[in-house]
Amino acid sequence: MKPIVIGNWKMNITSQEAKVYLGTFLRKLEVLKQAEVTLCPAGPVIPTVAQMLEGTGVAWGSQNAHWEERGAFTGEVSMEILQDLGCRLVLCGHSERRKWFKESDFEISRKVEQALAHNIVPVLCVGETFDERKAQKHEVVVIEQVRKGTERLSNIPALALIVAYEPVWAIGTGQAIEPEQAWEMARLIRSVLREVLPSGAESVPIIYGGSVNEINVASFVDGDAISGVLVGGTSLDPEKFHQLIAQLI
Ligand code: PGA
Repeated sequence: MKPIVIGNWKMNITSQEAKVYLGTFLRKLEVLKQAEVTLCPAGPVIPTVAQMLEGTGVAWGSQNAHWEERGAFTGEVSMEILQDLGCRLVLCGHSERRKWFKESDFEISRKVEQALAHNIVPVLCVGETFDERKAQKHEVVVIEQVRKGTERLSNIPALALIVAYEPVWAIGTGQAIEPEQAWEMARLIRSVLREVLPSGAESVPIIYGGSVNEINVASFVDGDAISGVLVGGTSLDPEKFHQLIAQLI
């Protein structure tokens, strides 16, 4: 299986900047084609990125979406709208959304369900805070997030789901965790998936996120417990992000 690499641009990079970025990033396509690369721009930048990615093998995804089909939800974007544009995946329950927008596990589980209903791969993001890790609660917290985030999945036939383990204290801090710690949590997540998904649990890729860069990336992706990465900061620099991907192939 190709390594999964998701670049989360967060609230950075305008359409004009994206054009310049992609001019650099898409230069060595033969490298990018050996990984499953997805870029997640801010919503209004999606059409520009989608157009420039056409035919390159690099996909785009969304940083968020609403769980309802349609309706009076000012300021929101639906999975249907994203599907129409050709969206590959949607981040569901990123820790910044849990923190700043108070997203609950219930809402996140509905987003996961709604993404699947629209043939979009939900990337269920889970991870403990620093205090939770310090208090030795990290396992309990992550088990709960995986269980709740997947609780509406039993009725979905063609299961395509990614779980991203992102310890909150490693996100944007420049302080990645030790690969062994990440693998340990990935194995725990796998055991929860086996419990909640009667079939298909083995095929769900688990990826790591949190201060991944072009230097440390290869130490996380062992092709066994962890099969890819979710990258924030480093994905903002097209040269470095390209180097990061090259380390995995
Ligand atoms: P980071 O962000 O790579 O900047 O730590 C990761 C993320 O938020 O997904």
